[in-house]
Amino acid sequence: MPLPKAELHLHIEGTLEPELAFRLAERNGVELPYADTEALRHAYRFEDLQSFLNLYYELMAVLRTERDFEELADAYLARAAAQGVRHAEIFFDPQAHLARGVEMGTVIEGLWRALGRSEETHGVSTKLIMCFLRDESAESALATLDAAGPYLDRITGVGLDSAEVGHPPVKFREVYAAAAALGLRRVAHAGEEGPPEYVVQALDLLGVERIDHGLRCVEDPALVERLVRERVPLTLCPLSNVRLRTIDTLADHPLPAMLEAGLMCTVNSDDPAYFGGYAGDNFTAVQQTLGLTEDRLRELARNSFLASFLEDDEPRRAR
Ligand code: HPA
Ligand code: ZN
Repeated sequence: MPLPKAELHLHIEGTLEPELAFRLAERNGVELPYADTEALRHAYRFEDLQSFLNLYYELMAVLRTERDFEELADAYLARAAAQGVRHAEIFFDPQAHLARGVEMGTVIEGLWRALGRSEETHGVSTKLIMCFLRDESAESALATLDAAGPYLDRITGVGLDSAEVGHPPVKFREVYAAAAALGLRRVAHAGEEGPPEYVVQALDLLGVERIDHGLRCVEDPALVERLVRERVPLTLCPLSNVRLRTIDTLADHPLPAMLEAGLMCTVNSDDPAYFGGYAGDNFTAVQQTLGLTEDRLRELARNSFLASFLEDDEPRRAR
């Protein structure tokens, strides 16, 4: 039995497996510039975050209808459940779809068809987190929040993703304040490729409750001390860090030292179709390569529920 856990850092578009991409391409009459799934898998060699994002946005072209988003989410939830995920807080990138002429309603209604029945079908409770693309303008983020107005009952929080360096959190101060006023929870990617200062900005200027990645906090002892003191959860993604060359090899991952320092770490999958593994695969990899004890693995699983946006009166299947 895999350890019950919550997945807190998962981009639904990053769960698009090559087989599903080709099936949707055929159904929607979309031409993919790859001969077959094998050729596509060969393109999964990334230099950095941007080289991954280029492919990630390119493949989204196959997602066009509510049914496509439903099938994408359903496939993810089935895989996650098989790896012990009992609760998933799922990111989506509406601007990437709006830019292709796919409407907000198509994305959210489609995802919701799968998410809304997921407790029954997969035994996985879910929440939806809408991300702003930080390499787009602040105005575009505000317009996206506005476009989500009719669907706010389905959105738990907002996040910030895409190309980090050169797009500091301060750029999105206004939209995060607006999101807070609407009662939305707040998270942001920071310290993946960007400097520790971006983590500080995300906390102080955006008021985030969790930091996505946050890996580079280890470069700033004062920041580590603060994160420990304030018990700020970090949603780490070890296999992602290796594939995007944030670290050289998994054996170099600072997770053991971060746990030792008292940081509230969680282990997640980010974009599992691209990075070689779902949540359970990430747990297994850090266990095997970093030699984490059973106690540490249980701590990571416990942290994932504690750091989730589940309310006290919601059922927590894993406890
Ligand atoms: N980092 C930033 N943006 C992203 C990622 C990521 O790992 N995956 C999808 N969008
Ligand atoms: Zn991410």
